[in-house]
Order: sequence, then C-alpha cells, then structure tokens
Amino acid sequence: MAPSNRIAICPGTFDPVTYGHLDVIGRAAGMFDEVVVAVVHVPWRKGKTLFSTEERVEFVSNATSLMGNISVETFSTLLVDFARERGALAIVKGLRAISDFEYELEMHQLNRRQAPEIESVYLMASPKYSFISSSGVKELATFGGEIDDLVTEEVARHLKERLGR
Ligand code: PNS
Repeated sequence: MAPSNRIAICPGTFDPVTYGHLDVIGRAAGMFDEVVVAVVHVPWRKGKTLFSTEERVEFVSNATSLMGNISVETFSTLLVDFARERGALAIVKGLRAISDFEYELEMHQLNRRQAPEIESVYLMASPKYSFISSSGVKELATFGGEIDDLVTEEVARHLKERLGR
C-alpha cells in the first residue's frame, strides 16, 4: 500500500447486496484510490441474517470483480477498529430517505466518538435506487415479486431458491 493511498471503507450487512449498495460502492471507488467493502459478520442490531457471511461476501465480490480498486472483507470488531487497521480515512455509506437519516446519524456519532480522525461520508442515493432495500427485496422474493432489476442475477437466483414459495 502506497502511503498516499486514500482508502475508504464501505461497510454494511449486505443481506443481500442490492444495486443500491453497488451504486454507492462504485461511486466511492471513483472518489478514493481504494475501497474496502466491509461485510459485518454479525450485525449487532439486525439479528440473524438470511445469508451466511461467506455468501454475503461472495455476492459482493462477484458483483464488484471488474472494478479494480475494490476489495471485500469481513469484520467482527468495531467498524472503526477495522477501518483503522486498513488505514482508511473515510467510511462511506448511502442515504436514501429521511428514514435512513436518524439511524445513520447515530452510527456516525458512535463511530466519530471512537475515531474522530475517520470521516463519515454519505452519498445521496441515485434516484433510480432510492427505494431499494435488502429487506424490501427479501419481502418481494418471498411473495414472488419481480426482483431482477434490483439485485444481480446471482443474488436473485439465491433469493428465489431460499425464499420463494
Ligand atoms: O447499514 P447496516 O448494514 O446496518 O450497517 C452495519 C454497520 C456495521 C456498518 C453499522 O451498524 C455501523 O456503522 N456500526 C457502528 C458500530 C459498530 O462498529 N458496531 C459493531 C459491528 S455491528
């Protein structure tokens, strides 16, 4: 790693990754030298995930494999400890609506309190992705809704296998 590398962390549960996440990750990759997508092993607030950590990492890895400056890792520590270990200068997340704001403001305050040197950067969701959420996609998949334009082909296939009735 060159000392001048500007590294950002794109953290999340990614259960599963959606085109909304991938939009934010891709935009972050255009702003920083390196982006590390950090897939949380056990999300403290969200409970059990539908997909295993390995599956969630694989879905993100396959979706970003053509983007040269993106890597995917998992973490089980405080997010800021992981970010510090990687030498990151920023945590980048997407913001869709007011409903995201309260949660993200709290995460930002928690993270900043622990690591004031790491900036949190929020990218406003692109309009075409502003309604997509992992939970919404899972709900649609459960009831046979159309999800092919919300997630990658691989994720759509696994969602249908896992949840389809
Ligand atoms: O948007 P998500 O998927 O709920 O984000 C998950 C994560 C880990 C990025 C978010 O919970 C966060 O920023 N947490 C900060 C506090 C922390 O480090 N908790 C330990 C890991 S859950």
